[in-house]
Amino acid sequence: MASSASHAYRGTDYLLGILILLLTGLLLFWTGRFLQPVRLPPTSPGSYHFIAQLDDVASGTALAFELEGRKWLLARTEDYVTAVSGYCTYRGSRIRWDRRNQVFLCEGHGSTFGPRGNLIHGLATSPLETLRIRTVDDRIYGARDLS
Ligand code: FES
Repeated sequence: MASSASHAYRGTDYLLGILILLLTGLLLFWTGRFLQPVRLPPTSPGSYHFIAQLDDVASGTALAFELEGRKWLLARTEDYVTAVSGYCTYRGSRIRWDRRNQVFLCEGHGSTFGPRGNLIHGLATSPLETLRIRTVDDRIYGARDLS
């Protein structure tokens, strides 16, 4: 008799333990949602994003910015504005703008790319990824290619 009551008691404890675990999980889940809001999904490729005002980039200079979690460089020459990936196509080292020579340089092994991202020389064998650029009312927008 005492044994059966003891089993029933253990069963109640077991259910109570599960209930407490569930409530704790829910509490942690909602606390996490409150502290870190739901992240929006990445923007779809092909949609344009504002990068900078045209006046933010003087002719002959470049501006670093982020788009979709990646680093990019916006370069402005006298004739056009280009945005290239901030990562080399060879081994992914960072790219910087060489103002004196008006080229993009890989900081890793020195590959050199033209202002439009075209490969000039170095270990890299392909050009830098570029963004499609649109300028509307002196505002520069960029979009990744759909391909
Ligand atoms: S990573 Fe660019 S040349 Fe080495």
